[in-house]
Amino acid sequence: MVKPLLAGNWKMHGKANSATELVEQLAAHEDTFSGVDMIVFPPAVHLSAVVDALASSVIDVGGQNMSQHDDGALTGEISGAMLKDIGCDYVLVGHSERRTVFAESNNEIAEKFNTAQAQGLTPVLCVGESLQQRQQGQTVKVVTEQIAAVINQVGIENLCKGVIAYEPVWAIGTGEVATPEQAQSVHAEIRSQLGLQGADTRLLYGGSVNASNAAELFAQPDINGGLVGGASLKAQEFLNIAQLMA
Ligand code: PGA
Repeated sequence: MVKPLLAGNWKMHGKANSATELVEQLAAHEDTFSGVDMIVFPPAVHLSAVVDALASSVIDVGGQNMSQHDDGALTGEISGAMLKDIGCDYVLVGHSERRTVFAESNNEIAEKFNTAQAQGLTPVLCVGESLQQRQQGQTVKVVTEQIAAVINQVGIENLCKGVIAYEPVWAIGTGEVATPEQAQSVHAEIRSQLGLQGADTRLLYGGSVNASNAAELFAQPDINGGLVGGASLKAQEFLNIAQLMA
């Protein structure tokens, strides 16, 4: 049995005070979701404060992005080693907003996955198709290519040590959640591509998850948890999701 994982992607939201208040509220109720692992992904400037606020909590912290390079003259970038150094254990790689708004390629994302593991972080690889790609019947092809780029770079065994989040782009921030059947079918496809080594790899679903739709999604056999955006910014809503998974 794979322990469920609930991850909150705060994106570019929140101030120093609201960031620490949010995690303090989550930590205060962590005994109510002891069957679930929880990670929060705050904006980079709030990471240290959030790590400090969670010093005696079981909730983990991760970065939303990192450079594929170890260090260097790269103004504005943050390395995996820097994330690790301040107390992060996870990092998102290849979120659809990085792929589309910042034009990150499959190869660049695969390099980030590789560097993250080399620097002691667990990467959460985000994959997913656009609405147009789904309508054209290309969902499996797109997701397979996104995953294959990482396998080429790090090998299947290392991929399986990470976390994979299937997030259909048309469901992110739109309120239009994938049906449990749609999500499960892509998750089953990903699971089969990972083979035996991926039996325990945590596969998350993301895209408009909230406390009303989470139970059905997380009841699917190949969905081991969620990557939640909007609903992770409200402590009570995020706690409700965690509690119904526990
Ligand atoms: P959402 O975002 O839950 O607001 O749709 C999910 C994500 O982008 O990870």
